[in-house]
Amino acid sequence: MDKLIITGGVALDGNIRISGAKNAALPILAATLLADEPVTVGNIPHLHDITTTMELLGQMGVGLVVDEKLNIEVDTSTIEKFYAPYELVKTMRASILVLGPLLARFGRAEVSLPGGCAIGSRPVNLHIEGLTRMGAEIEVKNGFIHARAKRLKGAHLVLDQVTVTGTENLMMAATLAKGTTIIENAAREPEVVDVARCLIAMGAQIEGAGTDTLVIEGVQRLGGTHHYVLPDRIETGTYLVAGAMTGGRVKVKDTNPAMLESVLEKLEQAKVKLNVGDDWIEVDARGLRPQAVDIRTAPYPAFPTDMQAQFTALNSVAEGSGMISETVFENRFMHVQELQRMGADIKLEGNIAITKGIKRLTAAPVMATDLRASASLVLAGLVAEGGTLVDRIYHIDRGYERIEEKLEQLGAKIRRIPG
Ligand code: UD1
Repeated sequence: MDKLIITGGVALDGNIRISGAKNAALPILAATLLADEPVTVGNIPHLHDITTTMELLGQMGVGLVVDEKLNIEVDTSTIEKFYAPYELVKTMRASILVLGPLLARFGRAEVSLPGGCAIGSRPVNLHIEGLTRMGAEIEVKNGFIHARAKRLKGAHLVLDQVTVTGTENLMMAATLAKGTTIIENAAREPEVVDVARCLIAMGAQIEGAGTDTLVIEGVQRLGGTHHYVLPDRIETGTYLVAGAMTGGRVKVKDTNPAMLESVLEKLEQAKVKLNVGDDWIEVDARGLRPQAVDIRTAPYPAFPTDMQAQFTALNSVAEGSGMISETVFENRFMHVQELQRMGADIKLEGNIAITKGIKRLTAAPVMATDLRASASLVLAGLVAEGGTLVDRIYHIDRGYERIEEKLEQLGAKIRRIPG
């Protein structure tokens, strides 16, 4: 297993390009299963989760061609299996995203039930309930979701809880259903909007993307398109926090500041300087120590749970005390114990982390537990005294494209140790 070794203490300085959003690319690749013509997807990040998705589609018999610009052309005309095996689903929960498209277009799907994961139980009951309401017959047996439907029919769905992939799964399924589907309490994340944009370009009729009510008029078929994935707002936020924590200057390019309002507001509260352009953001914290901030995670447009760990790391070296409440996932503070091993003063009370900032963390061998938790350990390593060894970085490779190269470009002392 690869590891990263980071020698802390360098104020980052430089510019980097932000990659396409993982959480949009994954559902969009799943959405290609709905089209009866090839779909090309561009700005796909080079990540382990993308490779897993390609493997998932490939083993179903779907044709995949990657061109020199790393666009992926997906051709479903050769599909012969409607199946997502445990070996792939266990490494990537987002595999559940093939359930809606397979069922809607081919009338059948067998998808392994995702297990628990480091950040909580993460059930998929809302995906299953929604599809059942649309007329699917679903049985969960031997660890698999077995789903059948002649043609799905439109339904009025009110989601008990805001779910991102749940909204995407049901929206994708509804595009080919007979009649109108209304999804209330839908997720409003920019990635959901990007999936809707792609589906509309394929011929779907969807209204309300970006609001909490989606209205989808089912159509007979969907065709080909070329879709360019939107930038990754979590990668953007992570590098901005890196700039802020290290007392450096970091400019992130090819991003979209409008998607990061809640995150930028927290950086402003942290009293670092921000310059914002149309498609770039610069954080300037030279000579500054950021102020600790209070945060409450919640579905978009509120503060994203996927940025919680990074701000916990920031608070651990900030001036003053900060309180972070995690309301989306039940067990998403696995990074706290590791940060404590680096000297951070953090008290956990249920789903609240109270941090008293200290001047300097100290290096320690630490273990990545999930994707965003691992990012926070890398950030901590950048400001710690000595060499921090981050183990199990396959979690990072699932969601951050070439993290060590990008950080190196900003001046960080970081090295991958293949293992
Ligand atoms: C997506 C993102 C992930 C992000 C999360 C929340 C992708 C591939 N992943 O994950 O990076 O952290 O949104 O912004 O886009 N829930 C249920 N029943 C369900 C579905 C969800 O109870 O059927 C609960 C979950 O346990 C959780 C909450 O709803 O407490 C939100 O989860 P959800 O939005 O579904 O997360 P994901 O879509 O898995």
